[in-house]
Amino acid sequence: MNPEVTAGAVPAVAMRSITKRFPGVLANDSVDFEAREGEVHALLGENGAGKSTLASILTGLYRPDAGDIEIYGRRVEFHSPRDAMAAGVSMVHQHFRLAASLTVADNIVLGHQAAPWLRASPRTIESQVTDLARRYRMPVNPTARIWQLSVGEQQRVEILKSLYRGARILILDEPTSLLTPQEADDLFETLRRMTAEGRTIVFVSHKLEELMAVSDRVTVLRGGRVVGTVETKSTTPPQLARMMVGREVVFAQSKEAHRMEGGEVVLELRGISADGDLGIKAVNDVSLAIKAGEIVGIAGVSGNGQRELAEAISGARRRSAGDVIVDGRSLRNGDPEDAIARGIAHVPEDRLGTGVSPSLSVADNLILKSHRRAPIATRGILRRQRIAANAKQLMSRFSVSAPGPDTPTRLLSGGNVQKVVLARELSSRPRAIVAANPTRGLDVGATESVRELLIKAAAGGVGILLISEDLDEVLALADRIAVIYEGRIAGVVPRDEADVQRIGLMMAGAPA
Ligand SMILES: Nc1ncnc2c1ncn2[C@@H]1O[C@H](COP(=O)(O)OP(=O)(O)O)[C@@H](O)[C@H]1O
Ligand SMILES: [Mg+2]
Repeated sequence: MNPEVTAGAVPAVAMRSITKRFPGVLANDSVDFEAREGEVHALLGENGAGKSTLASILTGLYRPDAGDIEIYGRRVEFHSPRDAMAAGVSMVHQHFRLAASLTVADNIVLGHQAAPWLRASPRTIESQVTDLARRYRMPVNPTARIWQLSVGEQQRVEILKSLYRGARILILDEPTSLLTPQEADDLFETLRRMTAEGRTIVFVSHKLEELMAVSDRVTVLRGGRVVGTVETKSTTPPQLARMMVGREVVFAQSKEAHRMEGGEVVLELRGISADGDLGIKAVNDVSLAIKAGEIVGIAGVSGNGQRELAEAISGARRRSAGDVIVDGRSLRNGDPEDAIARGIAHVPEDRLGTGVSPSLSVADNLILKSHRRAPIATRGILRRQRIAANAKQLMSRFSVSAPGPDTPTRLLSGGNVQKVVLARELSSRPRAIVAANPTRGLDVGATESVRELLIKAAAGGVGILLISEDLDEVLALADRIAVIYEGRIAGVVPRDEADVQRIGLMMAGAPA
């Protein structure tokens, strides 16, 4: 450190005029970013804003095309994450970087062993790890093997690994995406302990609520450029949202809680089970009834059978047991055509892979499911004019913004692709909609329109099964919330009685 400047006056991290270009995109455009010693500094921005690129440059994963980095006032050039680590800068990776069959202690020292004659004994390492874990309140057993740990525990191991190596500046990129609400709170507590000791945390996120809770300051990126840096305590979520998207954001009303007492059941799942791609049971005896006009949310941490459940209902995946009943009659197993014919609409999570055919025009995607029926087809002959008229009408009704109906769908933004999917699915007058992570990856504006469309559809009498890994979304839209854990429904609670703590416990597998 430069002896002429007093500690604290020099930022822990100073990135100046950082520019990074990828083919066709300017991911970071002359970005200035500073983080102080002892602060949690959030990096906020929509998908594609350039957050991960900046984080990767700071941790030596990418080299900037231009710009300087100073760590505690000293100019550095990182050619690899190892260089960054030597300067005290470390990225906390998600769990998949750990060796599953090794112990916690082994993983922590892996790749960081001194010469053999200097190596600490396993006992010493274990007690060092235990001490570190205690100091930061991150309970983890050093002799456990990684595969035995929950995702939250694996993340603690990653953090301990960074601390063990002496990291003073830790970067966490969307660290709560796989955590339950409690695990996220514990993580925030740990981060505060680290900043209290003078460490610096760069917390990358696109979730306003969590960075309001955890950060001291927020730097907002939009389209690769810095919009501004604000003190968290003197800002508000609407102000941050405005900075993030560049215009006023109207937070949509959440669905009016309403009781459709006596409303008829449109979609019933009766004891359905299905295997995942590896032949292991992914959906286990799920039963739920969804009434007309009702939104039933399925909350859960990613990878607990949500995708397989959606597919088992829509017919894309065969059920190994149970029935899907629409208006009192069972659907044929593993038959998507039957599901469509019986009024089950599907908004899949993989919208460009299975939601639309990316190379087809918007107009063609809008008729994908109705092209065998009149009036689009007459004696099997597609009517170009009708297709065009249909497209014009739906594009205006669902505010799809595209150069025209003939534009290839792959050229649309994520939000507009999703509107095409919803326009097609809702215009088929479904009885029920199965929507899987319908707003994932969408910007704030598109998220609001998609949620409004779902609320409107429910108000029109459609039953909706909303499978979402975004708990805030489920809480905002659903009349009832079912929690899925390891393929089973761990409990169902009405929205009015929903308690985030309790839902979080169920998401983590605690009994309801
Ligand atoms: N390795 C890469 N190759 C090409 N383009 C990339 C790469 N990484 C990121 N990008 C592009 O750079 C932009 C910023 O991406 P990213 O930094 O990941 O944003 P964020 O983390 O804010 O979502 C996006 O347009 C993205 O597609
Ligand atoms: Mg990112």
